[in-house]
Amino acid sequence: MKIIHTISEMQIFAQNSHRSGLTIAAVPTMGFLHSGHISLIERANSEADLTIVSVFVNSTQFGPNEDLDRYPRDFKRDCEICEQHNVAVLFAPENTAMYSSDHSTWVTEEDLSRPLCGNSRPGHFRGVTTVVAKLFNAILPDVAVFGQKDAQQALVIRRMVRDLNFPVRIIIAPLIREDDGLAMSSRNRFLSADERSRALVISQTLLSLTPENLDTEVIKSKISSAGGTVDYVEILDAETLRPVHLETVEILVAVAAFFGKTRLIDNVILKP
Ligand code: PAJ
Repeated sequence: MKIIHTISEMQIFAQNSHRSGLTIAAVPTMGFLHSGHISLIERANSEADLTIVSVFVNSTQFGPNEDLDRYPRDFKRDCEICEQHNVAVLFAPENTAMYSSDHSTWVTEEDLSRPLCGNSRPGHFRGVTTVVAKLFNAILPDVAVFGQKDAQQALVIRRMVRDLNFPVRIIIAPLIREDDGLAMSSRNRFLSADERSRALVISQTLLSLTPENLDTEVIKSKISSAGGTVDYVEILDAETLRPVHLETVEILVAVAAFFGKTRLIDNVILKP
């Protein structure tokens, strides 16, 4: 496995690979890899000749009072995991290489970015779309794999790729859970044992839903009763993130809640 730290070296590697007729699948991450990330890597391996995983904790998608400074990092372990899963290149650019001190160009998606996390994390998706556009311009992938765990992020990136004509096919891979149902996340490591067991209410509630028994207030009160602080619980059209309507094909039930200081998100898709 190659480890690349500079954007120019990444671009040269990608251009040479394309010239040799090899296709590239990108898996953008912020590191501290877990089985959810590994499932994306395996999907990427099956979609292209070379899998390139990026590990970059993207400062511009964190708000001023969020957990950028304490976001978990373990680069050595990330390298081992990538090595074990046939990753061709681990791309880990330096912050200063990705963002010049006078960086002043942003990519903003202005529809799907508004509800849900867009409401509670102003500027978050602007940071995500900007960094993903930059990563695509460095990795030059044919295909990129994102997780359904971040359902809104996946939709926003798909829209950005369509609207800006990125020649990249976007795959959205299933949400991977722990054996007890908790959605896997790098942030789960911040949960105390007590918070972690109380947080199971989120997945237990979501996984028990049927299209007939959807009620945001019931879901909110279950999370609050377990000691969680609800950020949002929303039932939306899974494609447009607008209210469910007669032609809705899939319903997204999306939750964000704090247990202690840790903000967790989870979602399920239901057919009406
Ligand atoms: P990160 O949270 O590290 O997630 C990287 C990718 O892994 C995302 O596509 C995310 O949806 C996926 N993922 C995380 N947990 C998952 C799970 N339990 N099951 C399936 N997929 C899961 O998302 C980001 O980083 C960043 O916003 C990024 C896109 C890299 C831009 O900075």
